[in-house]
Amino acid sequence: MKSELLLVLALSLCVSSKPLSERKTYNKLLLISFDGFRWDYDLDVDTPNLDQLVEEGVKAKYINPPAITMTSPSHFTTITGRWIEDHGVVHNLMFNVTTGLRLTHKATLKKSEWWDNGALPLWITAQNQGLKTASFFYPGGGANYSGQAVDRSLVGYHGQPYDNETDWRQNIDTVMGWFTKEDFDFVTLYYGEPDNVGHNEGPETPARRKIIEQIDRTIGYLREAIHKNGLTDHLNVILTSDHGMTTIKNATEVNEIKLSNYMNLLNLSRFDLLDYGGFGMITPKEGKEQEVYNALKNAHPNLKVYKKDEIPEHFHIGKHERIQPIVLLADLGFNINSKIILHINKGDHGFSNEEMDMKMFFRAFGPDFRNNFLAEPFDSVSIYPLMCKLLGVVPEANNGSLSDTKGMLVDVGGRIQVSFTLLLLMIVILTFI
Ligand SMILES: *[C@@H]1O[C@H](CO)[C@@H](O)[C@H](O)[C@H]1NC(C)=O
Ligand SMILES: *[C@@H]1O[C@H](CO)[C@@H](O)[C@H](O)[C@H]1NC(C)=O
Ligand SMILES: *[C@@H]1O[C@H](CO)[C@@H](O)[C@H](O)[C@H]1NC(C)=O
Ligand SMILES: *[C@@H]1O[C@H](CO)[C@@H](O)[C@H](O)[C@H]1NC(C)=O
Ligand SMILES: *[C@@H]1O[C@H](CO)[C@@H](O)[C@H](O)[C@H]1NC(C)=O
Ligand SMILES: *[C@@H]1O[C@H](CO)[C@@H](O)[C@H](O)[C@H]1NC(C)=O
Ligand SMILES: [Zn+2]
Repeated sequence: MKSELLLVLALSLCVSSKPLSERKTYNKLLLISFDGFRWDYDLDVDTPNLDQLVEEGVKAKYINPPAITMTSPSHFTTITGRWIEDHGVVHNLMFNVTTGLRLTHKATLKKSEWWDNGALPLWITAQNQGLKTASFFYPGGGANYSGQAVDRSLVGYHGQPYDNETDWRQNIDTVMGWFTKEDFDFVTLYYGEPDNVGHNEGPETPARRKIIEQIDRTIGYLREAIHKNGLTDHLNVILTSDHGMTTIKNATEVNEIKLSNYMNLLNLSRFDLLDYGGFGMITPKEGKEQEVYNALKNAHPNLKVYKKDEIPEHFHIGKHERIQPIVLLADLGFNINSKIILHINKGDHGFSNEEMDMKMFFRAFGPDFRNNFLAEPFDSVSIYPLMCKLLGVVPEANNGSLSDTKGMLVDVGGRIQVSFTLLLLMIVILTFI
């Protein structure tokens, strides 16, 4: 009877010891995004370092980007755990239908009014809970959220070299310094490859395979750097992307989509975002919505046309005010051209996230991840609750689900481990009383 009472006392002690031990028991986290790394890019290239990670970490068969398979919308879904209609970053380009403003992707990176729509990214949430965070070129990291900046932020710029391997290694060294010398808890690191090569040369080319080899060497360098910096047992790493890539079809194979064949854009459209891959939007002139819709609806067999209120709910894009009245989605490989067809990109994305070519890769390793664990495919919104779990951060409301990802972890978190150890200790003490 007495010992049962003591056991209860011991148990309650363990529970109440949570807050004390909480902070210290969480490992640091590095999220790396390789832009446009399609899920199968490592299958036709020799990638010894990625292969080793299959044994020493977690691999997902592939993961699903959100429905607008573009860089900024998808990266912001990863860092907020929200669908695009919830976070409002609906395009790579900041735009204003009234003024006709259209900013480039790089210029948009510094515009807080484009990113700060109420969904808090993990950097800010973590900082509000006492962690130190940084963003190295990660989209969204250069903006302020409710007036708060990310503790340390480097922002991508025009003319930035994408594929300089020396730079890539220096960036890793910089990030290692942030973790070891400045005690950062959470860092996001972004690389513009293999997206750049995928656009310029196409995904099924020797140039793309070469850049994957470079990425593989960089991952080898990263693992060495982690080891040299004594972070092997203290740092979790997630490697992922924002969308895949597909070869653009051209007039030698298909009837390309040119909207001016079907409607007079000048007369009917007030504002549009076209000539940007497989996804487009149009704001018709006053009273012209039905006319635009009718003109395009059955115009081309490989073009899907939606009025805003017809957009399938499972896309999770239709609710946001920035989505224009007419939304266009082309079949895989078809670009949506407005008046002229420019073959600028040999490869592109922006197509339906249900297409295998739009799926992206996911790997993870570190002290909290299992070895040799193959995860089933999941939606990229679920990376957010996983990151919160790893960092011991209370998540904001989000659209992800920890049940998608928690199987990757060796246990359910530092706190329980500590409590369990304490409990064992108490039982040992009790048996000797
Ligand atoms: C577009 O610009 C106008 C004029 O500057 C401004 O009043 C309006 O709020 C802007 N719209 C959006 C959605 O930002
Ligand atoms: C963020 O806020 C700081 C301090 O108010 C300001 O100096 C900086 O320009 C802001 N950055 C952006 C991108 O709005
Ligand atoms: C790559 O970057 C390094 C370091 O910034 C620089 O010294 C070198 O000239 C660059 N190489 C090329 C080919 O641009
Ligand atoms: C058009 O497509 C064919 C078949 O994929 C390809 O060989 C050719 O290089 C493409 N031409 C252009 C201009 O992209
Ligand atoms: C476009 O508008 C102009 C001026 O209102 C008109 O003259 C022209 O016929 C229109 N074109 C078409 C194809 O409707
Ligand atoms: C996504 O999460 C937000 C915040 O909890 C919620 O308001 C919204 O309804 C969710 N969306 C869906 C489709 O469940
Ligand atoms: Zn991208």
